Amino acid sequence: MIKPVVVQVFAVADNGMIGRNGDLPWHVPTDLAFFKRVTLHKPMIMGRLTYDSLPGMLPDRPCIVVTSRGFPGAPAGVEVVGSVEEGLRAAEKYLTPEQTEIVVAGGAQIYRAAMPCTDRLVVTHIQAEPEGDTILDCVNWSEWQAVSTECPAQSEKDEYPCRFVVYERKKRV
Ligand SMILES: NC(=O)c1ccc[n+]([C@@H]2O[C@H](COP(=O)([O-])OP(=O)(O)OC[C@H]3O[C@@H](n4cnc5c(N)ncnc54)[C@H](OP(=O)(O)O)[C@@H]3O)[C@@H](O)[C@H]2O)c1
Repeated sequence: MIKPVVVQVFAVADNGMIGRNGDLPWHVPTDLAFFKRVTLHKPMIMGRLTYDSLPGMLPDRPCIVVTSRGFPGAPAGVEVVGSVEEGLRAAEKYLTPEQTEIVVAGGAQIYRAAMPCTDRLVVTHIQAEPEGDTILDCVNWSEWQAVSTECPAQSEKDEYPCRFVVYERKKRV
């Protein structure tokens, strides 16, 4: 049996904002490319509102959507579940000995629900304080330690600079 590694992937601004009007509160293509790089070929769990914010299914990533209402007409390839726990169980069938990560892809409700069983955070820190309506308030940063940091160059299309940081849970002593 494969032990899954549950990884939350999100971009968060310095003021904790992650969403605005059902979308991202910024335009940072460098982060979108990073998101693709770290999620490709991994099963992804997301809330129904985040799914609705996407232009469609993201290729090459099994997509598991959490909703309390069902999803009649869900496109082929989208798996519909009634809770994060059910989503995690559904994701396990996509794991292999070489690929053991399950991605939690948001939004705020799903990050919060999945936090207790999360092993790793892959975070894009957006260096800005944009207005928005969705705050990430479920991370107790004192429980996490940064294990790698990458500071990509800001491209001319990026509205703000960003940095990529991977966090692992601190060992309990
Ligand atoms: N910055 C980032 O990295 C990032 C990443 C992802 C999303 N976002 C942004 O975050 C915002 C959306 O986040 P959100 O928190 O409003 O919504 P969300 O977490 O994406 O989705 C919420 C929906 O998920 C379902 N759900 C949540 N908990 C459930 C449970 N326990 N059981 C069954 N269903 C459950 C419900 O769907 P039903 O209403 O269908 O029951 C609920 O309305 C958007 O602005 C999006 O762009 C940002």
